[in-house]
Amino acid sequence: MVILVSSCKSGLGDYDPTEYKIDSLLSVMTVEEKIGQLIQENGGQGHDEDIKRGRVGSVLNEVNTENINRLQQLAIDSSRLGIPIIFARDVIHGFKTIFPIPLGLAATFNPELIEKTAAIAAMEAASVGIRWTFSPMIDVCRDPRWGRIAESFGEDTHLQSLMGEAMVKGYQASALNRQGSIASCAKHFVAYGAAEGGRDYNTVSVPENELRDVYLPPFKACVDAGVATLMTAFNEVNGVPASGNRFLLDRILQQEWQYKGLVVSDWESIPQMQTHGYTTDLKESAFEAFDAGMHMEMNSKGFAEYLKELIDEGRIPSGMLDDAARKILELKFRLGLFDNPYTFPENFPALLNEDHKEVARQAAAESVVLLKNKGPVLPLGAEIHKIAIIGPLANSPHDQLGTWIFDGDKRDAITPLESITEYFGSSNIQYAPGMEISRTKTREGFNRALQAAKNADIILLFLGEESILSGESHCRADIGLPGAQEELVQTLSETGKPLVVIVMAGRPLTFEKVLPKIDALLYAWHPGTMAGPALRDILFGIECPSGKLPVTFPRHVGQVPLYYNHKNTGKPATDLTWERMDDIPAEAAQLSIGNTSHYLDYGFKPWFPFGFGLSYTHFEYSDFRVKPAEVSPGDSIVFYASLKNTGEYAGTEVVQLYIRDMVASRTRPVRELKAFQRVTLEPGEIKDITMKIHTSQLGFHNQDMDYVTEAGDFKAWIGGDSETSYELDFSIKK
Ligand code: NOJ
Repeated sequence: MVILVSSCKSGLGDYDPTEYKIDSLLSVMTVEEKIGQLIQENGGQGHDEDIKRGRVGSVLNEVNTENINRLQQLAIDSSRLGIPIIFARDVIHGFKTIFPIPLGLAATFNPELIEKTAAIAAMEAASVGIRWTFSPMIDVCRDPRWGRIAESFGEDTHLQSLMGEAMVKGYQASALNRQGSIASCAKHFVAYGAAEGGRDYNTVSVPENELRDVYLPPFKACVDAGVATLMTAFNEVNGVPASGNRFLLDRILQQEWQYKGLVVSDWESIPQMQTHGYTTDLKESAFEAFDAGMHMEMNSKGFAEYLKELIDEGRIPSGMLDDAARKILELKFRLGLFDNPYTFPENFPALLNEDHKEVARQAAAESVVLLKNKGPVLPLGAEIHKIAIIGPLANSPHDQLGTWIFDGDKRDAITPLESITEYFGSSNIQYAPGMEISRTKTREGFNRALQAAKNADIILLFLGEESILSGESHCRADIGLPGAQEELVQTLSETGKPLVVIVMAGRPLTFEKVLPKIDALLYAWHPGTMAGPALRDILFGIECPSGKLPVTFPRHVGQVPLYYNHKNTGKPATDLTWERMDDIPAEAAQLSIGNTSHYLDYGFKPWFPFGFGLSYTHFEYSDFRVKPAEVSPGDSIVFYASLKNTGEYAGTEVVQLYIRDMVASRTRPVRELKAFQRVTLEPGEIKDITMKIHTSQLGFHNQDMDYVTEAGDFKAWIGGDSETSYELDFSIKK
């Protein structure tokens, strides 16, 4: 069989050469071969015969280059049409060089850096033959119980959009066929992060306007950034499973956004439609998914077994099959797989090379959020001669890598214990973990830890969650420090030695009660391969912390969902209206007058607000102005402020701009992040900040589901977190 894929005919006029090749291929493909392109098989074993018959379009989870090249050769040389396979993998926050978990990456508020991490991940993955990653995950999440919050960029739509876009750019670079580029996949379409009760896969009920204003924009940002593929979510959305949801896949993606890329199911999310109670059997699930707009099925066999039958029965037009197969062929052409199907690792930079590790160190350092610094005890100064290193996460190379690291290897991870010991000298370090793992319940190790603490000038206590306590299906109803960790804090605090707690975790944890016993608190998420060097740099002041929280930290899990961009309600609480449980007299009368929206026991405020993070230095904002103060619809608004470093260290501030539409035809959140900037200043230095936004960024979906920016009064705030009170007014003219 002669296939017109390697030579381009001249004289095609406007006919795009790739389209010509795809049309040529489609014209000679059988129905079975077209369906074959829509099948994604798991693992490299057991698919040889199907590959030879042209029944496999993609393989996920094979990372051995020899196997990849062998399977590719089967597809090229032994299948009738020689169509290459795309090899896919979950490369989520690095391939071999592991970067912080995405929630940690979000804390950097540094999209340029995040783009670099994705480019490195792509280069490393491509070097073994992976050309498609199932990343970024851009599910807005307002519930820290959800295990996959670790994989998300947090609770804010704007931050999530910028980070998602940065990752897409990093993975895909300027062209998919460039060496080191891989196709990206924005997932999970959509609202997977809104699972009821923060329990994975659970029901999602989100009003359409909220879907459009909160959950869809990150996907739109990735589509606009050219993301090659999207993955549907496991969950139902308002009663219809996302994988067979015509409103989402057809109306929004195809009709409204004119999305041209590929849509892949999540792992067996097609047969799960039956379990949801939406279809009677696999055939109907395949029909619902395909008819709604799904192009490729991951792992399960609905398309393989039933698409032909559905076409023969006339329920699916054969043109739709051509369209779906075309998407996959297009992607293969864009990736250059027809020209360069094989992988030669020797042509790529080494895995885990020093440049990659340095970016991982920088990302980990920028992700660390300083939440408390009494004294200040940090950074560690010349007065410190002996350090006690304690805690289950001080030397846990596996756990510091975080969730979803199929290809990361703990042997490559440098732990805080290793880095600090090397930097400070082993004779000045006493290490006693106190607990074996984060869930250890016994106090057996406490005595040794106490001994180490008593002999030291300061205690560095590494607490948190093991990596397996977050991630897919690893949700927690109690988001406190697991095991006996709070007791360990209590025990060590009794020594009276300065106590610095460093938390590694996949989510916000709640341990407000022991905070008064802690002198300094650094939140490091799961920082990845270079956790050790990054934390050494922060602790010793080689780097100044600059991370900011990408998610609200509740005081108690019972406050969840708690997020900064909530609505005001008709009875908002203030410190003056919060009625504290302990102050209520016995047999007090229940009244309706003067009540506000709060909890008697935990009030209405978070433990730490979104956007919060301290520095070793201090920043002062002044001269906040807006031009024009009254803007015409369709114009831009420029905000100005002056930022001064009034402290003693060079440092970076994440300047954040929030707005509120004071009165609208649909109630608006009390604040919304609209822009941010990382600004680095030497001590005493002053910089003028300019932030420009367009009136179109101030809109929302009204009752008719039209996106509108309404005239009227707005407030803007500038500062270092979402509770900043530095405000001004502006308005949009009628
Ligand atoms: C299930 C997960 O939900 C998805 O994010 C992942 O990409 C696939 N499995 C493939 O591993």
